[in-house]
Amino acid sequence: KIPVIISTDPGIDDAAALGMAFYRNELDIQLITTLHGNVDINKTTVNALKVITFFGEQTPVARGMESPLFIEPVSTDVHGESGMDGYNFPESTQQVISEHAVEAMRSLLETSGEKITLVSIGPLTNIAVLLLMYPHIKTKIERIVLMGGSLSGGNVTSAAEFNIWADPHAAKIVFDSGLDMVMIGLDVTLKALIGNDELANHQSKTAEMFSATFRHYRDGDMENGVVMHDMCAITYLTNPDIFKVEPKRVTVVTDGPAIGMTMEVSGEPNIQVATGIDQEAFRNWFLETLERMI
Ligand code: BDR
Ligand code: CA
Repeated sequence: KIPVIISTDPGIDDAAALGMAFYRNELDIQLITTLHGNVDINKTTVNALKVITFFGEQTPVARGMESPLFIEPVSTDVHGESGMDGYNFPESTQQVISEHAVEAMRSLLETSGEKITLVSIGPLTNIAVLLLMYPHIKTKIERIVLMGGSLSGGNVTSAAEFNIWADPHAAKIVFDSGLDMVMIGLDVTLKALIGNDELANHQSKTAEMFSATFRHYRDGDMENGVVMHDMCAITYLTNPDIFKVEPKRVTVVTDGPAIGMTMEVSGEPNIQVATGIDQEAFRNWFLETLERMI
């Protein structure tokens, strides 16, 4: 199994990604960390706990950074007021652990017998602070698989994708860290669509929750499919062959009108960038995983 720590800001597509991850036995989810992002940290943390309870899991959740490094926190209305509008999730029976997300990651990495993969499906603040405070921990990180960025235009501005734009300075620290990294950006995620066609014939509790939240998710529509940005990072972990990745040198723009842009520059590659997705295989991966879910 691949040991992973997931950093998330649920988020309707985060919730769907976490759900899929719980049912993929290739993965051993050791810790979930929350942070500011789609909505504020109080909401993303409550949402993460609700998702875990919904799926009957008990993965520890650590609350992380409540704001970006140097800019004010920003929210989006893409996921509604709560961050997970559309479905009445039962209150969670679980509490966050007492350690801050950065400390929880540090202690887990330090004591782990094997290297751990960091999966980021929100802004990169938690991971940047970890790398700044505890640089020695890099030797315990297998790699970072992140949903964020784009080489073909943004979704918040014409240049920037939300997760990078929400904390560009943190993203720059991570991109420049020298660690092994995979960037799953809009170049592929905008083609990962799930909607009525995939969900209509399923009766499960999960399919019901997905349909209800996806209807309120303002990134796509149920007719043509809504965009499963974050799920792609999970799909990549278990089935990398579904994607085409290419080594590139990518830098993060941290000021000016293109702030938050991930830009390809010349030089030694620092990241594997997903540039293609087999849409049929992604859809099958989704349906096959959904079959296993509650
Ligand atoms: C990213 O932004 C968020 O709204 C989604 O959850 C995803 O992580 C896509 O740009
Ligand atoms: Ca997200």
